[in-house]
Amino acid sequence: MVKPQTNDQLLLRQQFERYSENSPFRRSENTVQKTRRTWYKNHPRIMDSQAFRKHGTEMVEYICKYLDTLKDRRVTPSVEPGYLRHLIPSEAPFEPEEWSKIMQDVEDKIMPGVTHWQHPRFHAYFPAGNAFESILGDMLGDGIGCIGFSWAASPACTELETIVLDWLGKAIGLPDHFLALKEGSTGGGVIQSSASECVLVSMLAARAQALKRLMAQHPFTEESHLLSKLIAYCSKEAHSCVEKAAMISFVKLRILEPDENASLRGRTVSEAMEEDELQGLVPFFVSTTLGTTGSCAFDNLEEIGKELKKFQCVWLHVDAAYAGNSFICPELKSLLTGIEYADSFNTNPNKWLLTNFDCSTFWVRDRIRLTSALVVDPLYLKHCYDDAAIDYRHWGVPLSRRFRSLKLWFVLRSYGISGLQNYIRRHIELAKRFEQHVLKDKRFEICNQVKLGLVCFRLKGNDKLNEKLLSAINESGKLHMVPASVNDKYIIRFCAVAQNACEDDIDYAWETIVDFANELLEKEQHDELTEIINRKKEDTLAKKRSFFVRMVSDPKIYNPAINKAGTPNMSLDVTSPVVGHSSNPIIRTQTSMDRNSWISWPLAFLFNSNSDDGGQKSNVSLRFRHLDTNVRAISSRRNSGATSSPSPDNELGSINLKKSPIKPTTPSPRKGGLSLTTTSNHS
Ligand SMILES: Cc1ncc(COP(=O)(O)O)c(C=O)c1O
Repeated sequence: MVKPQTNDQLLLRQQFERYSENSPFRRSENTVQKTRRTWYKNHPRIMDSQAFRKHGTEMVEYICKYLDTLKDRRVTPSVEPGYLRHLIPSEAPFEPEEWSKIMQDVEDKIMPGVTHWQHPRFHAYFPAGNAFESILGDMLGDGIGCIGFSWAASPACTELETIVLDWLGKAIGLPDHFLALKEGSTGGGVIQSSASECVLVSMLAARAQALKRLMAQHPFTEESHLLSKLIAYCSKEAHSCVEKAAMISFVKLRILEPDENASLRGRTVSEAMEEDELQGLVPFFVSTTLGTTGSCAFDNLEEIGKELKKFQCVWLHVDAAYAGNSFICPELKSLLTGIEYADSFNTNPNKWLLTNFDCSTFWVRDRIRLTSALVVDPLYLKHCYDDAAIDYRHWGVPLSRRFRSLKLWFVLRSYGISGLQNYIRRHIELAKRFEQHVLKDKRFEICNQVKLGLVCFRLKGNDKLNEKLLSAINESGKLHMVPASVNDKYIIRFCAVAQNACEDDIDYAWETIVDFANELLEKEQHDELTEIINRKKEDTLAKKRSFFVRMVSDPKIYNPAINKAGTPNMSLDVTSPVVGHSSNPIIRTQTSMDRNSWISWPLAFLFNSNSDDGGQKSNVSLRFRHLDTNVRAISSRRNSGATSSPSPDNELGSINLKKSPIKPTTPSPRKGGLSLTTTSNHS
């Protein structure tokens, strides 16, 4: 063991030993137990280890039952915001409460508001790891309850993290320089809470590196001025956490357009950087994504890495929050091509490696460049092995850290890499199965290259239609998916999520989607038709009204025949009001009728059209005053729903009015039309 060298180190060493086995400061076991027992006696509701054992067992039972019967619950809750406020008091209880009462409230009040991420019908976002081995690992970590901010604060916590990160890094296929325990390596891995934190931390490290360089070049320039020159880059498809990181880091971010496969290309990045350099800006950071959130697209890391070589000191980060886990499969390692150019890389085992949140693994090529951006070293955190051991507090934002490596260690050991490979492959197979379902239905289209467990699809049609489909499905609680925008189109994401998902789950999901789509499309068709009909009805009615009103107020205007009435021996050929949308229907009339005779065509038309004969022929006999002539109006309707009234804008083009001897009239063969036949009593 390394001996403490300074007084400070000696002091810290003594503090450390105070808690170790042989320390004289350690109280005897009996005293401790006695004090504890008395305390519990005075606080009967507080859980002692005996009660913990009992309730712990019950809790394990509760969790097992919850997970085993999950499919009987709605996948998403049907509650409104604020639902819980009405069920839970607004202040914490002053007196301790019974454990059983608390657990009853879990079932009655909490569960109704839970979205069940482990539900077999949950296909939203990305998976949330939840293997039993991981739950136990977390339980143990919580039970130990150490806060491993430094090696000394809990050596096993730090050392296990380093080892497990090397294990996983090797399994993923990261280059040796990312591994902490590889001879000659300057890199290493660390567990962060989230991918967002990984991106932020890498940006902060890149910023520190860039500022250091700029300050060396421009020693008399204000640091804040130099900061204002820094610019970072990412694709439009990158996760929003990159934007957030730039906000926090106080740097500019240029969001670039990816190609048609949602992949950011090398030239796009370098051209943007060249442009910005000409503007006096300093490119310092590029965040690429392997497996984008929206459509699981892959930026062209190799191209980008090569292009970045042309620039001085630009940090290349790779965010593979979801997809990175899959690289443990040899057949998927090609998706990692170009990783040798990267300065940092992150993936979330808490997404797709069965490990519970939080567990976001992050590796850097050069740990000094990372820690020099984040190191603050107050005396109270120093320890005698500062130089010899890793202190993870310098690798991220928080000081305090949970013992997260335990759960990852449990998972890696229990499944083995081969077990995890099988799990990943199974999800990919299921996604491919879903893709096949979509491809077979010509009403749908696939919107991404399905490489892993995410399928993006949509109904052919507009965004609104797809929004309606998704919200109907989600509202039903039968299935849960979320949307994304790919190539500026609204798409629906379907992810294989459930740990033990099987073919039946995928088939069920597809059948549910098809049912909703059928219903929606039928309704859309019906709505469309109803809209057309209603629009037409409204038009027609408006015209009829106008026509009627004008006709009543001055029939002569609308019936020139009144003025041109001929002899009874006339030959009458009247063309109906012109079809169209004119508000002034025109009647073309040729008649030699007596001036005193009149024919109120519009009234006849209206009379006819108002008779709702449900598609039957409608015969209207009219005998005209002063004219010994009968007119029979015969209409046959297209169908019961469609209007066929012989109104001014009726689709019927013309009406033939013939003077003829009285005889049975012959309906026009023209469907939906109307024919008028005049019969004269004068043969
Ligand atoms: C590619 C990518 N990066 C970052 C994130 C953010 O992850 P976290 O919630 O761990 O911050 C996600 C989340 O899905 C992601 O898909």
